[in-house]
Amino acid sequence: WEELLQQYRQRKEKIFEGGGKERIKKIKDAGKLTARERIEYLLDPNSFVELGAFVEHRATALGMDKTKAPADGVVTGFGTINGRLVFVASQDFSVLGGSVGEMHAAKIARVQDMALQYKAPVIIMNDSGGARIQEGVDALKGYGDIFYRNVKASGVVPQIAVVFGPCAGGAVYSPALMDFVLMTSNAYMFITGPKVVETVTGEKVTNEQLGGPLVHAQKSGNIHFVADTDEEAIDLTRRLLSYLPNSAYEKPMYIEPKDDPTRLVPELADIIPAEPNKAFDIKKVIQAIVDDGEFLEVQPEFARSMVTGFARLGGHVIGIVANQSSYMAGVLDIDSSDKAARFVRTCNVFNIPIVTLVDTPGYMPGTQQEYGGIIRHGAKLLYAYSEAEVPKITLIVRKAFGGAYIAMGSKHLGADMVLALPSAQIAVMEAEGAANIVFRKEIESAENPDQVRAEKISEYRQQFANPYVAASRLYVDDVIEPQFVRLAIYNGLELTFSKKGSVGVKHGNIPL
Ligand code: COA
Repeated sequence: WEELLQQYRQRKEKIFEGGGKERIKKIKDAGKLTARERIEYLLDPNSFVELGAFVEHRATALGMDKTKAPADGVVTGFGTINGRLVFVASQDFSVLGGSVGEMHAAKIARVQDMALQYKAPVIIMNDSGGARIQEGVDALKGYGDIFYRNVKASGVVPQIAVVFGPCAGGAVYSPALMDFVLMTSNAYMFITGPKVVETVTGEKVTNEQLGGPLVHAQKSGNIHFVADTDEEAIDLTRRLLSYLPNSAYEKPMYIEPKDDPTRLVPELADIIPAEPNKAFDIKKVIQAIVDDGEFLEVQPEFARSMVTGFARLGGHVIGIVANQSSYMAGVLDIDSSDKAARFVRTCNVFNIPIVTLVDTPGYMPGTQQEYGGIIRHGAKLLYAYSEAEVPKITLIVRKAFGGAYIAMGSKHLGADMVLALPSAQIAVMEAEGAANIVFRKEIESAENPDQVRAEKISEYRQQFANPYVAASRLYVDDVIEPQFVRLAIYNGLELTFSKKGSVGVKHGNIPL
């Protein structure tokens, strides 16, 4: 035994050393955690069970026959987060740059398969130079296997990608296929790096300018969260998971609320201006309504005219979709439609009720939007809301005009309950535009056109720009005072929890 154990321990020690002290030091000097430290920080203490630690590559070309790659550059296994089972893979940049070879990929695929089998989330921590050049087509096969499993798991178990370092070429597509992508300030993601870009297009860009976290958070919308450090990214991952169930077959965890669900919110009357064209921060409304003011915003910096995120109300997890009047008046455009549609579909697959707060003047006009396919992108939002089987509760805060009224979780797309504040305006279009079209001849032929126009606008507003016409047709279930908003949404949630058929696999969560 003694000899056997000694050999075993030596082997294990080598594996734990990863790419060696020098390379580990480089990682630590950069203020990062190692692959193993990331897992340790992510999971509950002593809960990690490693699988495949002894895996070795089978490559021989380009000197690989003489190259050792402990654990083949990726640490995989399972453990718990707040007592809940999760599967993890953490790429080790100290071992061949965390590059993906045949066996490295097989280890990731193994935990993906297990996550599906045991119906638990999978978290892949990326830090890799991409496909292992020495392994050629076997490395590409490995990526294919990972992507295939990403798609098979989509809409079944939550998949979270955390990118800590490079993620280039084909490597980007595993995160892209997952439900949520987090990036640290040390990370970058792109299909082709700066050198290729310069050769092909002549453009000169840095890694950060091309695919740094801010670029993806603000411009491309490829990611959902940015964190300064490795620790912050992992904290955020744990927080995000607290809003998600382990699979599509479960509901998210209910937590007995300390915040009274029947609490009144009279402050909404101060936050929301009654004047339709005065901007305000819808996030203040969200914070006032939800339990303890706690809101985890998803994609906070992308398409900011739309706010999406998770919170709890009366202890139940909810997904919130809200127009932000303080950013481009809360207009619907290509990016905000995509953002909201993906979020609605994410809520639907994970059995999270959707609360929609409406205050939008409508779709963004112009050639840029039309040529970019606003029709197709806007249609995704209609599709997502109509398709969603989870409880859907909508509050019309102020403007709900035309197609945007229909798209933003209206009764007509299957909302379970639609509420409106007295400040709501539900009509085909804004009073100014409507009066100019309907009364154009009268206004043009009048001796005092400006006065007639003002009268007609006022007439239209009084007649149509309010919640009462819609309420008279049952398109709005009730018009409520601002102070009752939290209570009314809570009542709606309690009612709709009796909704049948809301758990189980509904559809995949294709990136939109
Ligand atoms: N295949 C095999 N080995 C790789 C690799 C890959 N795709 N990417 C990195 N490595 C190795 C390096 O050879 C180096 O090995 P060493 O420690 O034995 O010297 C180690 O990983 C670290 O890489 P290095 O280039 O020194 O790190 P860096 O931080 O300066 O740069 C990258 C990181 C990712 C920008 C750079 O390694 C790179 O451009 N890699 C190739 C990316 C790529 O095009 N991949 C294919 C995409 S599908």
